[in-house]
Amino acid sequence: MASGLKIVTIGGGSSYTPELVEGFIKRYDELPIRELWLVDVEAGREKLEIVGALAKRMVKKAGVPMEIHLTLNRREALKDADFVTTQMRIGQLAARAKDERIPLSHGVLGQETNGAGGLFKGLRTIPVILEICKDIEECCPNAWLINFTNPAGMVTEAVLRYSNIKKVMGLCNVPIGMEMGIAKLLEVEHSRIRIDFAGLNHMVYGLDIYLDGVSVKDRVTDLLTDPNNSSFVKNIQGEEWAPEFLRTVGALACPYHHYYYKTPVMVAKELKEFESNETRAEVVQRLEAELFELYKDETLDIKPPQLEKRGGAYYSDAACRLINSIYNDKRDIQPVNTMNRGAIIGLPAESAVEVSCVITKDGPIPLAMGELPVPVRGLVQTIKSFERVACEAAVEGSREKAILALTINPLVASDQLAKTLVDEMIEAHKEYLPLFFK
Ligand code: G6P
Repeated sequence: MASGLKIVTIGGGSSYTPELVEGFIKRYDELPIRELWLVDVEAGREKLEIVGALAKRMVKKAGVPMEIHLTLNRREALKDADFVTTQMRIGQLAARAKDERIPLSHGVLGQETNGAGGLFKGLRTIPVILEICKDIEECCPNAWLINFTNPAGMVTEAVLRYSNIKKVMGLCNVPIGMEMGIAKLLEVEHSRIRIDFAGLNHMVYGLDIYLDGVSVKDRVTDLLTDPNNSSFVKNIQGEEWAPEFLRTVGALACPYHHYYYKTPVMVAKELKEFESNETRAEVVQRLEAELFELYKDETLDIKPPQLEKRGGAYYSDAACRLINSIYNDKRDIQPVNTMNRGAIIGLPAESAVEVSCVITKDGPIPLAMGELPVPVRGLVQTIKSFERVACEAAVEGSREKAILALTINPLVASDQLAKTLVDEMIEAHKEYLPLFFK
């Protein structure tokens, strides 16, 4: 590596970018970033310019010698990069609104990363990430690709299966959010908590929970059955779990499990939002407009606290600690999406899983987690099958496989409805699904 790192962020015009910049600034001593390139597409030009100008002001205020470059030319940016992070949203928030509203109009869950919405976000994103992988191969073959783009599990699966990129990890803020939630529950510092994570992205379980290296799983279960406990992630307002469920399931569920273990409640809640034009994408569109108004203010030179209203809050902590551990060969334990390689028995060895890993300069080494507890194993296997069929649908542009994916997904689970949804959603997202219209 030349002196200092070169990092490229694709989807750099995202409203989340100030989080990332703040994270890099905080760690500058350990992680000397020479250049941060923010890349976007023509449709994101205005956002890129606004957020890029804020990033420049933040770096100036912090007094760190990090150059910020803004470009729409991905290949130019990628040249000799050390790390590439991806955080793009194909079709922007308008597409997310369709992913939410169309399934809801048929009475089933409409969500960014689950069910029909998750499938279509995957179908739009996978061909693009595979193009990015080709560019990485040519422009910066030694770089690490760290993907935050949702659905992160499906996207990591597609990269592992259909690209030549081996140095890839998928990253999510759910595990870090769960650790922080547990730390708050136990009223201790986050750094004293460690969870053994195993499962899939947005379908991850905590198999054990440690405070200073000693298991506190039973104590946590007791506290979680306290009705005053609140959900860990801001965009999912879960009802409390039934104490009977918490005491018998044998693992700590993640916030996204609400969609699977409380489906009727979550659908009813979303249907109300649907009727009042308050689905999450619609709320986020307004939040984003407010954020960009703030970002335009030339006197603003820090990350505004309002950004923490987004569900992805703290994702930069996860990203920066991961990049830091690779760069400095820290060999600490962090949860990432990576190739299973036998870590979780019962899931395919070559598939992407979300699992606690030792992070080294050569990449993640997954910890052996054995078999998942019986009560959760079947659901995880079903969702992995869904993700794999969805990846095939995306790369082949196959309507039939898209229908199959939804038929096996427990949030749709009907061949007829799957067909109706797929046909309506392919048409609605036509512009971003070229392979389906070959
Ligand atoms: C959670 C998930 C992220 C997702 C985010 C959405 O944090 O872990 O994967 O991107 O929520 O938040 P939003 O504010 O866009 O609903």
